[in-house]
Amino acid sequence: MSETAPTKRLYIKTYGCQMNVYDSERMADVLAPLGYGMTDSPEGADLVVLNTCHIREKATEKVYSELGQLKRLKAEKAGMTIAVAGCVAQAEGEEIMRRQPAVDLVVGPQAYHQLPELIARAHRARGERLAADFAPEEKFDALSTERRPSGVTAFLTVQEGCDKFCTFCVVPYTRGGEWSRPPDAIEAEARGLAEQGVREVTLLGQNVNAYAGEGGLAGLVRRLAKIPGLDRIRYTTSHPRDMDEALIAAHAEVPELMPYLHLPVQAGSDKVLRAMNRAHTAESYVRLIEKIRAARPDIAISGDFIVGFPGERDADFEATLSLVREVGYASAFSFKYSRRPGTPAAAMPGQVAEEVKEERLHRLQNLLDEQQRAFNGAQAGKTLPVLFEKTGRHAGQLIGRSPYLQAVHATAPDRLIGEIVSVRIESSARNSLAGTLALELA
Ligand code: SAH
Ligand code: SF4
Ligand code: F3S
Repeated sequence: MSETAPTKRLYIKTYGCQMNVYDSERMADVLAPLGYGMTDSPEGADLVVLNTCHIREKATEKVYSELGQLKRLKAEKAGMTIAVAGCVAQAEGEEIMRRQPAVDLVVGPQAYHQLPELIARAHRARGERLAADFAPEEKFDALSTERRPSGVTAFLTVQEGCDKFCTFCVVPYTRGGEWSRPPDAIEAEARGLAEQGVREVTLLGQNVNAYAGEGGLAGLVRRLAKIPGLDRIRYTTSHPRDMDEALIAAHAEVPELMPYLHLPVQAGSDKVLRAMNRAHTAESYVRLIEKIRAARPDIAISGDFIVGFPGERDADFEATLSLVREVGYASAFSFKYSRRPGTPAAAMPGQVAEEVKEERLHRLQNLLDEQQRAFNGAQAGKTLPVLFEKTGRHAGQLIGRSPYLQAVHATAPDRLIGEIVSVRIESSARNSLAGTLALELA
């Protein structure tokens, strides 16, 4: 870490999942010793990094329109370097270089530790592309476990890549196969964060519960729970197939493990699940949720859904709605199926019309919204432990999170940032709760 004042301005824009958020932070760490300090606008930046997402067509297209705007800024600012990182860089690096001459370099998710070298070389000749090989161990070996957290919560990547090959998904191609970081390195990073005031970590992985380090994810959670000051542990994203007994038991037994689980199912029709290569049925998913709820009755369940997968008929979609009714979600993300080049589903017959997808998405989202409001509404009158993270929009207000990951607003003094405080919940909306401090503080 550089102790000297930054001399160059770095702007990073992050798209996509939390793993990209983590990666962006680590890219900033890697660049700090070279004199780069973060700025929050691309105007006048010396280096602009777009950390991109390839998951749906829209996400990918955004990158190209953003690059169009950056090209104009670059024309005004001599010496601006533009780098494209992340999953689009991995998937279509050559196309980026071809379509947008303003781009100086492209770097895939497993190579960003080499950014300093790439930037130096790009200054000599444009067109460096570093993407193709997946070597997460090299990346993590090259990165220090020391970080400068920016708040009281932090993301911590423990696993990368995916071997599941759901037929709609690009992730196995953009991030490579499943790989787990050694537990010692993770613990060192978590301890460092806790020593700097981090109270909550979210362990990240494309399939985080496939974590294969000693003791699996459950073992890792138990180990991290012992770190002084680290009071809350979360993890995301999980696959139903990797939800083992040990992890379920951890939800019952480890108080630091928060009662919230993002467990995507994607669809409720077995025919569609089979075509998606999910390797589970609707029934097995529902039974799994029951088991988890038996271990931790108050757990908040969240999920991801895709509507309009090739071959999805009305009856299949109805099966998704009934699964949602049966499970009862605290929150969820839902998407129209997006045809991704190179994935098996892109070539499947029975592609669904846009209007049909639109209509199904609307119906599904109405139901999920209703469930989310109901889940939030059920907290009214309860007293919940809230970890305050930052000041709110109104003077004297703080914003924190409940154990169930709900945003909670309350009138409270700034010194409570970083504290876990009892808050009595008075009202709720779709996306947040409001309450008052339950204890008169001295
Ligand atoms: N590894 C995680 C999530 C990866 S991507 C998992 O398996 O759950 C996040 C979500 O994006 C997926 O859960 C899925 O709902 C959605 N998604 C992925 N590919 C998609 C596509 N081609 N079209 C629409 N949504 C997609
Ligand atoms: Fe994509 Fe499926 Fe892997 Fe999730 S499990 S990242 S949806 S291939
Ligand atoms: Fe997007 Fe890559 Fe994450 S495709 S969702 S940024 S793993």
